[in-house]
This record gives sequence, C-alpha cells and structure tokens, in this order.
Amino acid sequence: MSIGLLYERSENDENGIKLTAQELGIDLTFIPFRKIAISIGKGNYNVASKGKNFTDTIKDIAVVLNRAQSKNRRVYAAHTMEVFGKKVINPSSIEFACYSKFRTLLQFWALGLPIPKTTYVPCDPFDTTKDGRVIHNEPDIADLLQQEIGSEVVIKPDAGTHGKGIVLSKNRQDLITNVQQTTSSIINPVGVVAQELIQKWFYDLRIIVSKEKRKDPVCHPVALARAGFNDFRTNTFLGNLVFDAKLPLHIRELAVKCGKALGKEHDAWVFALDAMMNVGENKPVDDETIKTELQKAAAPFEAIKKVKQDETRLRDFKTWNDKLEAAFKSYMSTESYAKVKSVIEENVETNRLQIVFHEANSCPEFWEQTRLIAGINVAVPLLKGAQSIL
Ligand SMILES: Nc1ncnc2c1ncn2[C@@H]1O[C@H](COP(=O)(O)OP(=O)(O)OP(=O)(O)O)[C@@H](O)[C@H]1O
Ligand SMILES: [Mg+2]
Repeated sequence: MSIGLLYERSENDENGIKLTAQELGIDLTFIPFRKIAISIGKGNYNVASKGKNFTDTIKDIAVVLNRAQSKNRRVYAAHTMEVFGKKVINPSSIEFACYSKFRTLLQFWALGLPIPKTTYVPCDPFDTTKDGRVIHNEPDIADLLQQEIGSEVVIKPDAGTHGKGIVLSKNRQDLITNVQQTTSSIINPVGVVAQELIQKWFYDLRIIVSKEKRKDPVCHPVALARAGFNDFRTNTFLGNLVFDAKLPLHIRELAVKCGKALGKEHDAWVFALDAMMNVGENKPVDDETIKTELQKAAAPFEAIKKVKQDETRLRDFKTWNDKLEAAFKSYMSTESYAKVKSVIEENVETNRLQIVFHEANSCPEFWEQTRLIAGINVAVPLLKGAQSIL
C-alpha cells in the first residue's frame, strides 16, 4: 500500500512534494483530480480520465495527501477518498472546519484560544421574494455589526483566500456600502462574517503546526512574517515582502493548541495558521524608518519574483529551484532584511500576549516563501505524517 498525491495541476508545491519524496526515499502515486470521472454505483467505484483508468491505482493507495487547490474540490476529494477507505491528510472533518473562517474560529474559541472578536450574521444583504421584489437587509445587518463590533469593522468572505473581498469600514456609510457588496458566492456561501479591526502594525504571521501519529504536535519555531504598508491586509498575495521571525514559546504553545482544536482525535495533520499581533501603539520605531528599509529590500525581492515567473520551472524544476534558492539567499542577506526582521522579532516578543489567531489553512502554499524564508519544507511533515498512518 502506498501514499497518493492528489492534485489538480502539478504546481511548484506538488513538484516540491515529489522532489522531497524522492530525497526521503518515499514512493508516491499520483492521482489527478480535475479532468477525471468519479463514478459510484452497483457496489463499485470507477475513477478514470479520458485515456486512463485510475481505479486500481487508487485501490492500492492507503493514504492520500490532498493537494486539490480549490477549497470545494478539496472537500469533495477528502470525503470521497475517506469513503473509498483511505486515510487523508487533512481529513474531511478538518477540511470542513478550515473551509470556513467562522467554523475555524468557533473551534479556537471553544478551547479559549485568542481570536479577533468575530460576528456571523446568517442573513444575506438582500432577499428576492417569490413575486420578484427585493428586500433590503443591509441596514439591519449594519446595525447588528455596529452593535457587536463598533465603528471599525472588517468584513470578509467566509471561505475567501488571498485577501479577496476583505474590506474595512471606518464609519456607517462605508459599512452599508460594504455590506451591500457582500453578495452570496462560492467564497461566501451565506450570510456575513465580520471582525473587529486588529490594531496590528505593518506585518502579520504565518505559523506551521503539524502532527504525526504517536508523536506530540509540533510548531515550527520560526514564522513567515508578511510585511508592508500598502494596505491593512498584509498577506503576500497583495505584493508584500516576507521575513522570518523567531517565535516566543508562549506563541508556539498557543499554535499547538490551535492545531489540536482543529485536529481533534486525528493522528496526522498539517496547518498553516494565520495570526496577527494586536500591538496598538506599542511600536518601538516610526513607520517611516520601516518604510525606508522595506523600499530598499524591495529590489532584491523583485529579483525573486523574476525567477518565479521563469518558465524553465515547468521543464526543469530542479535547476529552476536552484535559481530560486539563490535569489532568496541574496534577498535575505541584505542589511535592510536584517533590520526589518529584527524589528518584527522584537515586536513579536514584546507583544506575545497580544496575539490573535484568525485562520487555519489546510493546504498551504509553501515551496517558495515558507520553505526558503521560515526554513520549513512543509512537504516533510506531510510525507512523514502520511508514513506514520500507513
Ligand atoms: N480583523 C482584522 N483586523 C486587521 N487586519 C485584518 C483582519 N482580518 C484580516 N486582516 C488582514 O487581512 C489579511 C488577510 O486576511 P485573512 O487571512 O483572513 O484572508 P485570506 O483571504 O484568507 O488571506 P490568505 O489566503 O492570504 O490567508 C490578513 O493577513 C491581515 O493582514
Ligand atoms: Mg489568511
């Protein structure tokens, strides 16, 4: 019985998992999860693409690493593979929680973990009656959010990624407009999710926690800090820079508890937790100083972006990967990098009691930034976790 890597397209992370498996001497079987047909009926299942049948391949697999990219496809994949008798990392019950920011936060909250105050209003901004009239619920929703959260409100699509659709309202007019724009969609199935505005500084954190069977869960001691002043959203997708930041023990312990809150009784799992520091005015350096250093670090970071766009990665992943590593190395060796990193680390240490966890990513990107900046190849806990439950 072997380990299956289920994926939609073979991207850098999936190639990275393949490369890491080779290095660790672990056999992997590949399961495409896009242009295939999964059929059930008459006591059998059949999985086939147009040219190839995968049913026997799947029968020989005991553990599936679920790398389907779309959250919905990932839930389908996890659930289907479990019913076919496979163990999955991460299991479908975990995917169910991570799919929704609100469901994730419910789990953290239930264990008393620090989260941003979060409000869910089950009602959609407008309803259409049978006779075609539109009923506007925006003012009521805005009233509820103001009543619970106050004047500064962050609205976010419950199942969104890459910061998409996350908006900040600073007054009632903004709030009404933003509620109006919160339409029901695949990334926001129903209702409105809103949060208090965390008074973070110019960065936030991504923290990796994982568990193998028969071992205690672990938190990687270094976080990936995403930093920039362009927007209140500091996630990397929006062009922010990245730095490594050593984590205080207190934060590592909380992160492990977040992992347990979602992992429940499962033997093996991997998460990338997103967290913010509610530092308020606790900033030892002025913003201008940081902005100057960030500007200086931006040039070598551009060089990284160029390598990322280089199409040789599709033909010769190994050579491309060497180039990528060299680009990260020269970015990280700059003086500006060191300065910003030390400010972040010090600020995290001072404000360690002010951390809030706001999301858990069950299928994180890792090959580029997390691996080369935070120094953890997530493929390793994924593969070792899979081996531990074989
Ligand atoms: N309540 C909040 N207060 C202040 N800033 C916030 C709040 N929620 C989110 N942000 C900012 O917006 C960014 C994106 O938020 P979040 O992680 O919830 O969205 P996402 O769509 O899942 O993004 P990603 O896919 O990059 O994780 C955060 O990294 C943070 O900088
Ligand atoms: Mg996030």
